[in-house]
Amino acid sequence: MKLAFGLALCACLTGAVLWAQSDDFAEYQGWMKSNAATVADISKNLTAKDGAAAHTGVRKLQENLAMVMAYWQSRNVTDGVRFALDATYGVAQVDVLISQSKFDDAAAALKTAQGSCANCHMAHRDKAPDGSFKIKIK
Ligand code: HEC
Repeated sequence: MKLAFGLALCACLTGAVLWAQSDDFAEYQGWMKSNAATVADISKNLTAKDGAAAHTGVRKLQENLAMVMAYWQSRNVTDGVRFALDATYGVAQVDVLISQSKFDDAAAALKTAQGSCANCHMAHRDKAPDGSFKIKIK
């Protein structure tokens, strides 16, 4: 009886942990999918020289990156935090150039900022055999 209860409790806790992880991952993946869509959007708006729309995109990226940074911070992964900060700094430069209507320079700066996306992906993104992505903490 005691054993059965213990097993049930155990299964329940395991379930909770798995649930928490997948929940967490879905949220993280949401920021990443939004990052990709937003970068494409900013790029398009820079070509169209629509500064207001490009600025809105930059704000969205900054919001996403703040969440991403907090994610790595709460796990004490220093380089993850740094990549998120680098990307944040990079898109802040894009914003400055947008405010000066230097749209070509802003597009170049956006490419540079994407280097920080790539740096984090190299360190912390795993590609599963089925082509989906996973988070690599260490
Ligand atoms: C601090 C680390 C970090 C930064 C910075 C970062 N990423 Fe990611 N990214 C990840 C990790 C880890 C994954 C794997 C988990 C996932 O798929 O969400 C990922 C996955 C992705 C994916 C695949 C999403 C999917 O699962 O289909 C895209 C697209 C993406 N990132 C775009 C970006 C863009 C664009 C930027 C920069 C604006 C960026 N990322 C910045 C860590 C980062």
